[in-house]
Amino acid sequence: MAKKCDVPRTFNVAAVGLSGTEKEKGSTGVGKSCLCNRFVRHLADDYHVDHISVLSQTDFSGRVVNNDHFLYWGEVTKTSDEGVDFNFNVVEQTEFIDDSSFQPFKSSKTDPYYKRCTTIKLTSAEKLMYICKNQLGIEKEYEQKMIPEGKLSIDGFVCVFDVSDVPGRTIDKQVEYTCLILNNLMKTKKPIVLATTKNDEARESYVKEAERLVSRREYKGSIPLVETSAHEDVSVDLAFIVLAQMIDRTKGKSKIVPFLEAALRR
Ligand code: GTP
Ligand code: MG
Repeated sequence: MAKKCDVPRTFNVAAVGLSGTEKEKGSTGVGKSCLCNRFVRHLADDYHVDHISVLSQTDFSGRVVNNDHFLYWGEVTKTSDEGVDFNFNVVEQTEFIDDSSFQPFKSSKTDPYYKRCTTIKLTSAEKLMYICKNQLGIEKEYEQKMIPEGKLSIDGFVCVFDVSDVPGRTIDKQVEYTCLILNNLMKTKKPIVLATTKNDEARESYVKEAERLVSRREYKGSIPLVETSAHEDVSVDLAFIVLAQMIDRTKGKSKIVPFLEAALRR
C-alpha cells in the first residue's frame, strides 16, 4: 500500500480576534490580516499593511468578499524546523463595515462576532481568494483561486491579541473581548493558539496581560502563546505550525521561542 504520509495533510485554520467598528476595535485592527498575509505570501513585495475592512456595497457583494464576513487567504505549504511539511488553507474571520452607514454589513448570520467567528463549517460558493485591497473590482487581473469546493471545515484557530498601544482601544476591553472569543472557541474542542501581534511595538504590560489570559484556569493550560510580528516576519509561521502540531500530534512539537530571541535568530 502506498505510504499516506508522502502527501502532506492539509490543515484548515481560521484567524480570529477583536473585530468590528472603530468603536469596538479602536483606530486600527489587531493584526489578523497582516498575520495571514505574511503567512500565506511572505515575500516583502507581496506583504501589504493596509487591508480591507470598510467597504462599498459593491465590494461586499463581489466574489472576494462574497457577502461573507470572512476572507479566504488561500493555500500554502510550510516546512517545520524538523523538516516536516504542512499544507494550510487560511481564512480570516472579520467584520466588514459599510462605507455609507459605518455599521457592519447585514449577512445571513446575525450572531455577534465572538460567536460567528467560531464556526467550523464554512461555506461560500465560488468565493475567490483574497490577495490585496487593490484586487477588489479588478479580480480578473489577479490570480483567481477559489475556496476548495465552496467549503472548508476548520481544524483549529489562531486567535490574535495585539500587544501594541492603539488609540481608542483599552487593554481591558481587548482582554474582555478576547476572553469571549476564547470561551466560545473552547466549546468547539478544536486546538487554539494565541498569537500576540505587533511585538515589534509591544508594551511590556500588554504582553503580561496576554500571558495572564492564557493561564486562566478555564483554559486548563491548553492554549500556547506565540509572540509574533508580521511586519518583521517573526514567528508567524511558528504560530500556525504549533497549531498544526496540536491538530496532528504525530507531526512533532516545535519549540516556542520568546520574541526577542526569535527576532535575533531571523
Ligand atoms: P480588521 O480585519 O479590520 O478587524 O483588522 P485586522 O485585525 O485584520 O488588522 P490588520 O492586519 O489590518 O492590521 C491593522 C494595522 O495594524 C495595520 O495596518 C498595521 O499598521 C498594523 N500592524 C499589523 N501587523 C503589525 C505588526 O506586525 N507590527 C506593527 N508594528 N504593526 C502592525
Ligand atoms: Mg482584517
